[in-house]
Amino acid sequence: MRIPTASGTLVFDVTEAGPYLRSWGPDGGPPPPLPAHVPFATRADAQPVLVTAAGTRHVHRGELLVRRADGRTGVRLVPGETTISEDGTRTRLSAVWRGEGLEVTVYVQGDTRNDAVAQWAQVRSTGEEPMWLTRAFGGAWDLPVGPGARVGALAGEWSRELTPVTVDLPAGTFAIGSRQGVTSHTYAPVVTVAPREGEGAYAVALAWSGSWSMTVDAAPFADRVRVGAGTDDETGVILLEPGASFTTPRTYAIRSENVDDLSRAWHAFERIELRRDSSTHHHPVVYNSWYATEFDVQVDHQLALAERAAAIGAEVFVLDDGWFHGRTSDASGLGDWHVDRAKFPDGLAPLIDGVRGHGMRFGIWVEPECVNSDSDLFRTHPDWVYRAGDRPLVTSRNQYVLDLGRPEVEAFVADMLRDLLGRNDISYLKWDMNRPVSDGGRPTDPHGSEWSIQHTRAYYRLLELVRAEFPYVTFEACASGGGRTDLEVLRRSDVVWASDETGPRDRLAIQHGFLSAYAASWLSSWVTDEPDRLDTDDGPVSLTFRFLVAMCGVLGVGGDLLAWPEQDRKLAASLVATYRKIREVVLEGEVHRHGDPADQQYAVEYRTPEQRVVMVFTRGGHRDPVRLTGVSGGEHLETLGPDGTLQDAGAVTAGQAAEGLWAAHRAARDADLLVITNRGAGT
Ligand code: GLA
Repeated sequence: MRIPTASGTLVFDVTEAGPYLRSWGPDGGPPPPLPAHVPFATRADAQPVLVTAAGTRHVHRGELLVRRADGRTGVRLVPGETTISEDGTRTRLSAVWRGEGLEVTVYVQGDTRNDAVAQWAQVRSTGEEPMWLTRAFGGAWDLPVGPGARVGALAGEWSRELTPVTVDLPAGTFAIGSRQGVTSHTYAPVVTVAPREGEGAYAVALAWSGSWSMTVDAAPFADRVRVGAGTDDETGVILLEPGASFTTPRTYAIRSENVDDLSRAWHAFERIELRRDSSTHHHPVVYNSWYATEFDVQVDHQLALAERAAAIGAEVFVLDDGWFHGRTSDASGLGDWHVDRAKFPDGLAPLIDGVRGHGMRFGIWVEPECVNSDSDLFRTHPDWVYRAGDRPLVTSRNQYVLDLGRPEVEAFVADMLRDLLGRNDISYLKWDMNRPVSDGGRPTDPHGSEWSIQHTRAYYRLLELVRAEFPYVTFEACASGGGRTDLEVLRRSDVVWASDETGPRDRLAIQHGFLSAYAASWLSSWVTDEPDRLDTDDGPVSLTFRFLVAMCGVLGVGGDLLAWPEQDRKLAASLVATYRKIREVVLEGEVHRHGDPADQQYAVEYRTPEQRVVMVFTRGGHRDPVRLTGVSGGEHLETLGPDGTLQDAGAVTAGQAAEGLWAAHRAARDADLLVITNRGAGT
């Protein structure tokens, strides 16, 4: 059985234990040998298979852990039918296992338009008794990279998200996850898995935005390394009542010749499969006033900022936190989603009208999943927050998390969104979530241990509501920076705020990690006045450097424009205009990252068939020519002038094509931009 993708084919064979992924390569690839016999192992343990359970196999971690009322654990899975079906560009394998009151169907689906292959499972109760699933991963990826693996992950913390880490795993289990109710700053749900020596690489991502778990299991000396992922299996327990079923989140896997190519395969998949459209409407140049005002929101001040934002070319003006009732600091008001009359005596209309009068769209910030204890919402509904019985409530940023899985809480948020977006001329929404869940659960509810699944599904429904009922609203996902960066968030949002860190060199490092798995068209990035906190050895950078960092994705500005000198605002206006010229290439282009942001020189290249855009960042006066594969001479070169405009630098010479391109004004700049247009293609 074969599942074709854009540039490869997955071949499945069926054994007595059920189907397994035999090989994956450009033409199916060579089949790695199946272990014929392993001494001191059961037959089931010796065979690769899409899904296993404790009770069926015992060497690898099972994807399914079942507990029953009588204390028995596990399930003996017996393979049933395996079928394959085609629907347009998609091919889907469906494989069934049954045993002891359970039916498990694993789906594997590929698409010839991209290279990511989805896998998920439906677990259905066919018995008479309730069961508890303490782990329910949607099948596993048994990848032929062993023995052992070189595993790559994106790790971090607040303000330092998505830092690439690599682990040499000769044997053992590499485990990452989140117990925080959100994807988390700690790990992104994506790994790369490559042989410890030799060619070929795989990546696996979990498409889920609540608590989660992912493991890379390298049994000693085994040819295959098993990657499994799903909802959190530490605190989350799913009650499966008789006749009920649970559909797992999807994992996606990609195969490539090397780890670097995996990023481009992810981007292509995300652009084709997850992005709602390619218009610039949903990728506008934003001005966000948070860094300029924080909670001190005043109409006249915002209008003054809006005037300056319009003058530099911003397309949307976003009013961040601080606009709603009683929100004078982070200690009060959260949950009371009506405009603060002390700050806006005539409502939002005067500000929105002013912003619209400057030719910009208007956007606003919300954080619907949380509440301050000092709020009317909490005073009215103290029972709506997560709490573990009498255990004292824990605050983080002075707030609690609402139990969004409760229908009345979801309905409250839906009403709030409809009211806010329906009554006001708002076309950009930034949705934030600023604390982890520490006491999730609903102690008296038999389904209370599924809180993170219910919460996450409600969050998805609310995002879908916004998209369906207010399709012109651009959606920015945020969770105190990059706490919710994953494939399902990408599917339902237009841009993602990758981090609260906007110091330019620190930000560049975060973006380098972001781009290893997530496409540039989601990368919301603003130019602010914030200094670097970590990468300070080379001192402050130029305004052009700051802009080019933000131009690596969806450009925004968040600095205090009233404090910027006129020359900076002039330069900013030119750089915004330059960005608009290259925006399509940045959003659509193939991304090639040259080096590492910690290097003396680092570049990010965006490539379409007609044009390349290259952002170059340097340190300590270091200047190297930028070498680009596939530039042969004769292409038209433009570089960035000191005034922020693109300047004609003539045709690329044969020497430059061979030796590399010098960035313009190389003696005086810490960052530069090259635009290379193929002969015959218009600019
Ligand atoms: C979080 C976000 C910021 C900003 C503040 C407002 O930290 O990540 O961008 O919106 O909240 O309180």
